[in-house]
Amino acid sequence: MKQASEWLISQNKFHRDARSLGRKAHTVSITGGKGGVGKTSIALKMARMLAKQDFKVLLIDCDTNLSNTAVKLGLPLNDHFMDLVTAKKSFEECLTIDGNFHLLSACNGNMELFEKELEFDRLLIDVMSAHEKDYDYILLDCPAGLSKTSLTLNAYSDQRIVVVTPDRSSITDSYSLMKILNTRYGVNENHLLVNKVSTLAQYQRMVRTLGETVENFLTARLRVLGFVAFERGAVDRFDQELLGGANSALERDFAKVLTRFTEETVGANVSAHGPARPYNSMRVREQDVQPAIC
Ligand SMILES: Nc1ncnc2c1ncn2[C@@H]1O[C@H](COP(=O)(O)OP(=O)(O)OP(=O)(O)O)[C@@H](O)[C@H]1O
Ligand SMILES: [Mg+2]
Repeated sequence: MKQASEWLISQNKFHRDARSLGRKAHTVSITGGKGGVGKTSIALKMARMLAKQDFKVLLIDCDTNLSNTAVKLGLPLNDHFMDLVTAKKSFEECLTIDGNFHLLSACNGNMELFEKELEFDRLLIDVMSAHEKDYDYILLDCPAGLSKTSLTLNAYSDQRIVVVTPDRSSITDSYSLMKILNTRYGVNENHLLVNKVSTLAQYQRMVRTLGETVENFLTARLRVLGFVAFERGAVDRFDQELLGGANSALERDFAKVLTRFTEETVGANVSAHGPARPYNSMRVREQDVQPAIC
């Protein structure tokens, strides 16, 4: 862990003036610890909406051998990521391009990739470093879990959007992620997006529980971006509706989240919904969020 932090610092990521060295893209990881909370769906939606707003966006599928981005877009699976790793193809040849939206998808159970046991965090950071001057945003669709790859990519990113769902295991896992990032990597700010929300009261409870715990037990703050409602219906209907871009309630929820986020990252002050709010309020106990690990 120590080695990873030193290496990250050597990449200049924590140096405030890094941008003046010619870096351009805001790197944003879509993360959360727990599986199935909506990271990939949200990363894809964000990437497509930002591209529609004329930002040049690169989405990198960091779930290197369980890639879902191409699946959700209805694209054929490919091994471009393996070709990039083995230098059989150039970066440009490995992208799926739709206007301003560029996707670097990954593999699905590729044996050769599996057996190589590569250091994917270094590899992906090298890819980003080489191309960040060409994009406004680089979004990282992070894998579930607390792997070194996931932690390093989260620490490397300029911002992290932590996706949680209203259940105890998601709250616990997201807190564990933020705790390790804070303690081992000095990450002191994360954005919170609550997905699969059924009621406003549920959303408010989530924000309060996580916000208070982060504030009271970590030297970090949580910036609240908002929520995406739980869409009932057939399996995969959510993704179809989310990516379809119709003028739906879902689209409006998402537009609010994105407005909050872009206003912060591009430095504007005020919107109809106000900027993302740092959390502060009354106390809860850390064990309310994380019963097992303190
Ligand atoms: N707000 C929502 N309402 C209903 N279904 C949703 C919502 N958000 C995501 N889903 C569904 O939940 C499932 C998991 O979503 P997704 O693949 O985006 O999660 P993930 O966090 O990327 O998962 P993994 O950890 O496996 O990478 C998908 O079937 C998706 O359609
Ligand atoms: Mg995913």
